[in-house]
Amino acid sequence: MLEDSFGRQFHYLRLSVTDRCNFRCVYCLPNGNTPSLHQDLSLAEIHTLVSAFARLGTRKVRITGGEPALRNDLADIIGLCHQSKGIEQVALTTNGFNLAKNVQRFQQAGLNAVNISIDSLDPRQFGAITGQDKLSRVLQGVDAAIDASISNIKINTVMLRQFRMTDWQPLLQYIQTKPVTWRFIELMQTSDNRAFFETQHLGATSLVDQLSQLGWQPLDRAINAGPAEEYTHPDYLGRIGVIRPYRPGFCDSCNRLRVSSNGQLHLCLFAERGVDLRDALRAEDTDATCALIKQAIKTKPETHALHSGQTGATRHFAMLGG
Ligand code: GTP
Ligand code: 5AD
Ligand code: SF4
Repeated sequence: MLEDSFGRQFHYLRLSVTDRCNFRCVYCLPNGNTPSLHQDLSLAEIHTLVSAFARLGTRKVRITGGEPALRNDLADIIGLCHQSKGIEQVALTTNGFNLAKNVQRFQQAGLNAVNISIDSLDPRQFGAITGQDKLSRVLQGVDAAIDASISNIKINTVMLRQFRMTDWQPLLQYIQTKPVTWRFIELMQTSDNRAFFETQHLGATSLVDQLSQLGWQPLDRAINAGPAEEYTHPDYLGRIGVIRPYRPGFCDSCNRLRVSSNGQLHLCLFAERGVDLRDALRAEDTDATCALIKQAIKTKPETHALHSGQTGATRHFAMLGG
C-alpha cells in the first residue's frame, strides 16, 4: 500500500481522461478551454497506469475530466479499469450531459458510482452557471443512473454568493424519494478564478446550521470516507453532504492521488507541478511507472496550498478533474 511521510494511505486514484469540456461553468471555465496541445492518454497508456496503481494497492479509480464523456471510448476505459486486478470500484465524475444515453452501457462495463454536477434545480440559473441549457437532460441522466442500478449517486453543487439558495423546497422534494446524496461544495480558489472567488466564495457554516434546524443528523464518517460530511433525515431517502476544504484538518484524511490526461501524477489538487509518468506509460512499462509513483509519494505535502493563500499550478479544475 502506498503511504506518505505523514502515515496517510492511498487506495484511490482520480484519473482525468481529458481536459476538454463542453460546459462553461462560471467558477471553472467561463471562457471555455483552449484546446489541449497534448494527446490524451491512450487506452494502452491507461492500462499500464491502472495496472501500476493496482499493484501498489489502489482499489478505487474515479474517472474525471474536463468532461470524460467527450471521449467516445469512455465505456472501454471503464471496462479496462473494472477488469484490472485489484480494482474494486470504478466511479465517474461528469456534468451529465450524455448520461441518459450511455449510463446503462457504462454500468455493464463495470461502473459502480457516479457524481454529477447540478448547480441549480432552476433551469435559468442552471443555464447562467454552466453556459448550457441542459438541466432537464442532466436530470434525465440521474434518473437513468438510478434505473441502471448504480447504487452510489452523488450530486455536486458549488456554493456561490450570487446564486445562494433561498428556497429549499425543490431540492428537499427531489431528495425525498431519490436515493442520491446532494453535496454542497465550498468554492475553491484557483489561479484562473481569483477575482471571482473574492466576490463569490460562500462559507458553509450557515448551511450546516440550517440543516440542523431542519432535522438533518450528521452521520459518523467512515475511515475511508471522501471529503464530504454527510447528513441523513428519517423522512428522506436521499442524503445531504457538505465539502469544506478550508476547514482545518481537511487534508488529514486525504486518501487520493491524481493523474492528468497528459500522464502527470499530481500529489495534491493544488500541487505546484506534476511528476511526469508519460514516458513510462508510452513504453507500457508497469515496473518503471510503479517506481516513479513510489518515489513521488514521499514528497506529498501535508496539506493543500489554499491554507496558505496559494493556488498551486491548478489553473482550473478541468485541468485535473477536481
Ligand atoms: P468520492 O469521495 O469518490 O465520492 O469523490 P469526491 O466527492 O471527492 O469526488 P468529486 O469528483 O465529485 O468531487 C467533489 C468535490 O470535492 C470537487 O469540488 C473536488 O474538487 C473536491 N475534492 C475531491 N477531492 C479533493 C481533495 O483531495 N482536495 C480538495 N481540496 N478538494 C477535493
Ligand atoms: N471549487 C469547487 N468545486 C469546483 N468544481 C469545479 N471547479 C471548482 C472550484 N473552483 C467542481 C465541479 C464538479 C467537481 C468535479 O468539481 O462542479 O462537480
Ligand atoms: Fe466542465 Fe466540470 Fe469545469 Fe463545469 S466544472 S466547466 S462541467 S470541467
